[in-house]
Amino acid sequence: MLGLYIHIPFCVSKCKYCDFNSYKLDLDEKKKYLKSLEKEMSFYKDEIKGKKIDTIFIGGGTPSILRGDEIKVLFDNIKANFKIKKNAEITMECNPGTLTLDKLKIMKDCGVNRLSIGLQAVQNYHLKYIGRIHTFEEFEKNYYQARKIGFENINIDLMYALPNQSEEDWKESLEKIVKLNPTHISAYSLILEENTELFDMYNRNEFKLLDEDTDIVMYEYTINYLRSNGYNQYEISNYAKEGYECKHNILYWKCENYVGIGASSSGFLNGTRYNNISSLPGYEKMILEGKKPIEWEEKLGIKDEIEESIFLGLRMNEGIKFKDFKDKYDFNFREKYKNEIDKLEKLNLIDINELGMRLTQKGREISNSVFVEFMD
Ligand SMILES: C[S@@+](CC[C@H](N)C(=O)[O-])C[C@H]1O[C@@H](n2cnc3c(N)ncnc32)[C@H](O)[C@@H]1O
Ligand code: SF4
Repeated sequence: MLGLYIHIPFCVSKCKYCDFNSYKLDLDEKKKYLKSLEKEMSFYKDEIKGKKIDTIFIGGGTPSILRGDEIKVLFDNIKANFKIKKNAEITMECNPGTLTLDKLKIMKDCGVNRLSIGLQAVQNYHLKYIGRIHTFEEFEKNYYQARKIGFENINIDLMYALPNQSEEDWKESLEKIVKLNPTHISAYSLILEENTELFDMYNRNEFKLLDEDTDIVMYEYTINYLRSNGYNQYEISNYAKEGYECKHNILYWKCENYVGIGASSSGFLNGTRYNNISSLPGYEKMILEGKKPIEWEEKLGIKDEIEESIFLGLRMNEGIKFKDFKDKYDFNFREKYKNEIDKLEKLNLIDINELGMRLTQKGREISNSVFVEFMD
């Protein structure tokens, strides 16, 4: 399996909670950046020659901030540098407030077959408070436009544990979204990131964070409510109708190869993990010098690779299969981790059978404590 991630680091404005690598749009910067992406793709052309791409994810930032003609050129460049499988999953992240019917049509013509639309909440006062540029009604309009022109596979991003969000507000968000019948829902609990406006607001006592118990109640409600409406939780924050799990994410969690293009993107190729420079000037400079814009790279030793496979595999609800470890690394998982498994099983944090093991509901709630048991 081989994936391709391309990062578009521009947004109309910065949401108050967001610490992703994204900047307020600057037209000159965008023009330069798109040229650089083209060049960076060409650096990988020979390296992965002969392999076909299974999944593409254009993420951000706000990829739908690009003009229609820019989206078209971006895909022309992708096709000129990489061979794409016929049935590849091709996702584009989109934000209401930047989407138009024309852009959606162009995306469709370019081969995009999955949209991931960021909404976060259905109440306009929450959207405003966290700095989103759109209303729920604008989102709905875009959603129906996308459906009308034939996008069947759509994810909607939501967030809970927002400032001043009641359990009732969250239930209303879930209810309204389920009514729209998307194929996939991502529901993230708010992380208060240090370098954000929300963090400063919190320190000025402008709002209180939800306590951990309420966070867990909301999480459990989400799992149960979505399950009863036909969405299976297949990863900590991801829910899908059967057959609509995001192939690109699964590829990450299964430690498959992927090329990462763009500022701050990461990639994993032939046992080496790499991370590109985040700053746009730094990124442009390296590209202009004809070099891959890599900030650090690390050849994973077998031990690192095994730990990473456990960590990423356990994030998925189906968990890990012992046979995969036997096939890939030639050891008996149950024997090697006997003590850790016994301990976690006693604490009711994992479910295990002869084929594999997965986190229990309790394990998922404190997943990091489970992961560390397998780290050296
Ligand atoms: C890569 S981000 C960007 C997607 C897109 N630009 C948007 O805002 O709609 C994907 C999702 O991560 C979630 N997210 C971003 N910052 C977060 C935070 N601090 N805590 C929890 N979830 C967050 C949001 O749901 C967001 O839609
Ligand atoms: S639109 Fe998305 S990437 Fe941009 S600032 Fe908001 S959450 Fe971050």
